[in-house]
Amino acid sequence: MTALALLLFTLAPAELIQLPAPPTQGGPPLLNALSARQSAREFSSRPLPLETLSALLWSAYGINRPATGGRTAPSAHNWQTIDVYVVLETGIYLYEPRTQRLLPVASGDHRPISGTQDFVNTAPLNVVLVADMSKTKKSAEDSDADVLSWVSIEAGAISQNIALYCAANGLNSVVRAGVQRPAFAKLAGLPATSRIILGHTVGFPQKK
Ligand SMILES: Cc1cc2nc3c(=O)[nH]c(=O)nc-3n(C[C@H](O)[C@H](O)[C@H](O)COP(=O)(O)O)c2cc1C
Repeated sequence: MTALALLLFTLAPAELIQLPAPPTQGGPPLLNALSARQSAREFSSRPLPLETLSALLWSAYGINRPATGGRTAPSAHNWQTIDVYVVLETGIYLYEPRTQRLLPVASGDHRPISGTQDFVNTAPLNVVLVADMSKTKKSAEDSDADVLSWVSIEAGAISQNIALYCAANGLNSVVRAGVQRPAFAKLAGLPATSRIILGHTVGFPQKK
């Protein structure tokens, strides 16, 4: 790629991405995935195929009961507070589970602010799990700490879904508390009611 072509590619606005329909049956046995689950911090920069991205995001927090809008991970009171932000080389996107689309939020390569470790800069996918606290409705006996623990548990379940999908499909992944929160919130235009809970990096293993 020439320097000009590279510049144009880098400056190209992020576009809406329609993901292919994800598989919702089959795959390796769950116990095999649990046996393989581990944190890994080495990633090939090879992009993930759209089919893989779609299957991974559906596994993470897709809709598995279309009649009710039920999701693949639980949430306290079914508040469904977590928004799944997808950070690719081309931009930051918001996963829309109802349509299996990625809505562009910011153009350009912002992978560095999705974490605090060097591997996030080149891994093909960083997911950032953001709680929209305006979706919570706490009653008088619930403390703010209670509610924050519940949305964190929702994010943890989503993250484990990602880890198991990766373990079952030969991908490396690691869940991360480390996210450059103020920079990411600013760039993604998050409202003040948002709390960034976790990051999760995914990619193919590096070739030995
Ligand atoms: C809430 C939470 C936050 C974590 N944050 C990070 C992180 O910021 N960076 C990182 O490299 N690993 C992070 N990890 C991964 C842990 O270091 C890892 O799970 C632990 O060392 C055990 O290794 P294992 O996952 O391979 O069993 C985090 C794990 C959890 C549960």
